[in-house]
Amino acid sequence: MPSSYDTLSSVLIIGSGAFGLSTAWALCRNPQYKNTSITVVDRNSFPSTDGSSVDSSRIIRPDYAAAPYARLASVAQNRWRTDFAPEHYHETGLCLTACGPEQKYVGDSLANVQNIGTDKIEVLDSAKDIARVCGLERTLDDACGSTGYVNWSSGWADAEGAMVWLRKEVNKFNRVNFVVASVKRLLFDFDSNTVSGATLSDGSELRADLTILAAGAWSASLIDLRGICKSTGQVLCYKPISADEEAALANRPTILNLSNALFMIPPSRGKVKIARHGHGYLNPTTIPHPESQDPNEKITVSLPYTHVTDPNLVIPAEGRRACNDFLASIHPSLAVPSRPFTTTRLCWYTDTRDGDFLITYHPKYKGLFIATGGSGHGFKFLPVIGDSILECVEGRTPEEFKERWRWPEDRVPEEEWAGDGSRGGPVGMVLEEEFRKGEAKL
Ligand SMILES: Cc1cc2nc3c(=O)[nH]c(=O)nc-3n(C[C@H](O)[C@H](O)[C@H](O)COP(=O)(O)OP(=O)(O)OC[C@H]3O[C@@H](n4cnc5c(N)ncnc54)[C@H](O)[C@@H]3O)c2cc1C
Ligand SMILES: *[C@@H]1O[C@H](CO)[C@@H](O)[C@H](O)[C@H]1NC(C)=O
Ligand SMILES: *[C@@H]1O[C@H](CO)[C@@H](O)[C@H](O)[C@H]1NC(C)=O
Ligand SMILES: *[C@@H]1O[C@H](CO)[C@@H](O)[C@H](O)[C@H]1NC(C)=O
Repeated sequence: MPSSYDTLSSVLIIGSGAFGLSTAWALCRNPQYKNTSITVVDRNSFPSTDGSSVDSSRIIRPDYAAAPYARLASVAQNRWRTDFAPEHYHETGLCLTACGPEQKYVGDSLANVQNIGTDKIEVLDSAKDIARVCGLERTLDDACGSTGYVNWSSGWADAEGAMVWLRKEVNKFNRVNFVVASVKRLLFDFDSNTVSGATLSDGSELRADLTILAAGAWSASLIDLRGICKSTGQVLCYKPISADEEAALANRPTILNLSNALFMIPPSRGKVKIARHGHGYLNPTTIPHPESQDPNEKITVSLPYTHVTDPNLVIPAEGRRACNDFLASIHPSLAVPSRPFTTTRLCWYTDTRDGDFLITYHPKYKGLFIATGGSGHGFKFLPVIGDSILECVEGRTPEEFKERWRWPEDRVPEEEWAGDGSRGGPVGMVLEEEFRKGEAKL
């Protein structure tokens, strides 16, 4: 930590997603940084369409098993409800269903709530109840999918709308220099183990006292995160629906099946979206070692592969089939062959071994701070995460996150990671292998 963070003359933030943009906002709002020059660089023009923070919707669901996240999420949710992009937040509820072993989670969660007794919870103990509350066209098999509850206190946000809202807030300060360029490498000085900015792909440099790496799932291309963060690709499928169909579903809860990790957020802007909160695809990629002085030294890490990398990208058939089967099981009329998904997308999680964020100084390089590791649950914190990141920059990491957000002591092989316990669906898929098995046709 620089002893004089309070006199920082310049900060460079790499990445304009939820973590980076909210940090820029926090810097603008804090009088202590009145004289600090702030630069945000992103490889895409804003909003970054293949970034994790830009999409039609994200669940705002503050019920965490870990109390610190539950507390922070509830502060964030109060902001969504009141003064943070409230027009982009919709409190239509979240319906959790399960089948088989995951039913235990549903039961435990419920027991939890019934003890507190403050949430607006509706227990759903038959398939008919689930269908009624979620407005499903089809009543599921009572044998499976008959347990659930809806939490009317949860909601979802239009993620792109909220990011655009936040960018406007930041612009009002007229303080941040936004640069559209790809960072090729951090500016290392290996004699003093210092990072003093970044080199862009055109060879030019952006120099700063403090560099904050918030490049989401791409962070692993700029520092060695093996055994610390891994990027996993998740599937998303969209199709147009009629205004009547949209109106019928718009105020229904999000339905999440904990057994196969598939979920449907209420349709918006004429489209219905199905996605999977799963273990995801790995995309092992061999790149020059980002921290090596030897250009021939290589490492292999999972990195994002998106519609920006490949405009013709269609997701593997396996993922499309899973999304379609889920839709067919709840709204068969939307899943008929004449109404295929018109857009599919891979969105990349930055997973850590246990789902904790990574918000910390780099242990080796002075002047380098890391803010990533969203692990598929970071978006809901958009109203508050920048303030938290700034507290950590100032060496005031909240006590309850000190252990969770720090740079881990050891690098643990990714096959040995416990995970955050919330994922379902297939395990251990490799993107290229799934592509080879057959590409989904749009
Ligand atoms: C499909 C999906 C569903 C999700 N659902 C939820 C949910 O329901 N609820 C929830 O709370 N969270 C959810 N999340 C997680 C949440 O969206 C992420 O944790 C959060 O958006 C991460 O933000 P970020 O700023 O770390 O990454 P990003 O938003 O990806 O930002 C990183 C930015 O860095 C830029 N960048 C990368 N490399 C470079 C480079 N070399 N040079 C310059 N710029 C670079 C990228 O262009 C990008 O804009 C979901 C994520 C995904 C993918
Ligand atoms: C900013 O710069 C002005 C002019 O040099 C100085 O008076 C002021 O104390 C500085 N503010 C902070 C917060 O450092
Ligand atoms: C219900 O939602 C509220 C607010 O979103 C949350 O605080 C609570 O933990 C949730 N409870 C359950 C059991 O889902
Ligand atoms: C949830 O997933 C399980 C396992 O794939 C499946 O058997 C069940 O029918 C699904 N329920 C719903 C609501 O889709």
